Amino acid sequence: MADTTTNYDDLIGRSELDDLEAILSVTNSERDEVLHAVQSNYQTIFTWDYSKGSRPKLDKLYEKAKRSQWNAQTDMPWDVEVDQEKLVVNNALAQGGFNAGMDVTGTPFEKWTDKEWVQLGIEMQNWTLSQFMHGEQGALVCTAKIVESVPWIDAKYYAATQVMDEARHVEVFSRYLDDKLSGHYPISAHLELLLDDIIRDSRWDMTYLGMQIMVEGLALAAFGFMHQMTTEPLLKKLLRYVMSDEARHVAFGVLSLQEYYRGLSAAELKERQEFTFEAAVRMRDRFLQQEVWERMGIKPKEVLPLVLQSPERPVFQAMLFSKIVPNVKKLGLLDTSDGWLRQKFTELGVIGFENWTDTGEEYQSLSIDQESTGAAA
Ligand SMILES: [Fe+2]
Ligand SMILES: [Fe+2]
Repeated sequence: MADTTTNYDDLIGRSELDDLEAILSVTNSERDEVLHAVQSNYQTIFTWDYSKGSRPKLDKLYEKAKRSQWNAQTDMPWDVEVDQEKLVVNNALAQGGFNAGMDVTGTPFEKWTDKEWVQLGIEMQNWTLSQFMHGEQGALVCTAKIVESVPWIDAKYYAATQVMDEARHVEVFSRYLDDKLSGHYPISAHLELLLDDIIRDSRWDMTYLGMQIMVEGLALAAFGFMHQMTTEPLLKKLLRYVMSDEARHVAFGVLSLQEYYRGLSAAELKERQEFTFEAAVRMRDRFLQQEVWERMGIKPKEVLPLVLQSPERPVFQAMLFSKIVPNVKKLGLLDTSDGWLRQKFTELGVIGFENWTDTGEEYQSLSIDQESTGAAA
């Protein structure tokens, strides 16, 4: 069993998992670039084996995707009026007030009035939805790469439907930000580094692992959480529709990689474990929302130790991994290499989710298709 004093340098570029200073040094809040180019190097694969349905589970997913398309312009109630300020206030009231359970004495929050707390809530929402939008564009680009690089015809067909789904997701989040919220944030540097790694890798399965399993697994959990919490009807419906698609996307990753990983060597699987862990840490780091604190005129370092102490924090953070862990387990990545990743997920505090339902099984229950017809698709 690995010891808990692991040196993380080689994996995540810092020696301690929770080194706040190192996490905050990864930043891009000053940038104003419009385009971001990544050099990737992978083989584009043609296949002359056109036998549709030779992978029945992927074929079923493809047929389902064709039936589940929706239209971002016409299926959403865009005329709903959104009062961001009121939503923030109501949300805070439901949780017992703006700084419930926090001792703010001697912190920058000490002088804050309701006005600043409301602004913080608004900024956090703008930040969160902006990151969703950027992540969706990551998915759009990664899935187009999968169409090119995956060798199986059933997977190319399915991935093509996902490209369309992701275009729709970028579209809805972008429109929601523009029409209903009050400002954009650039992509979090942690998320950007992760997307760059995923798209740059020459091995097709790494794109799946990074995007379908990790980024989309986290997104599915985060959308589910927000869908449950929000009282805003447009956002609620939008998230419900996006989740229906996302569940299929994660299932696509699970079903494809399950087959592929059966044929990999122990050394190859170890590389996949390390990639998984690195992605998990990057995704966790971005939820410090450092850009929000900067925009509020506060040094993140001064407030994060306090924010991280809030009782809901570990629950929220762990919840983000509730889909990832069972899916990674299903792929056999937890226990290979003497349980290397099991140990790492234990250190991250998320191993408790290992026996939750995996998305390869669960996706049908999240389908809007099923809801509207009342039938198990
Ligand atoms: Fe998406
Ligand atoms: Fe997706």
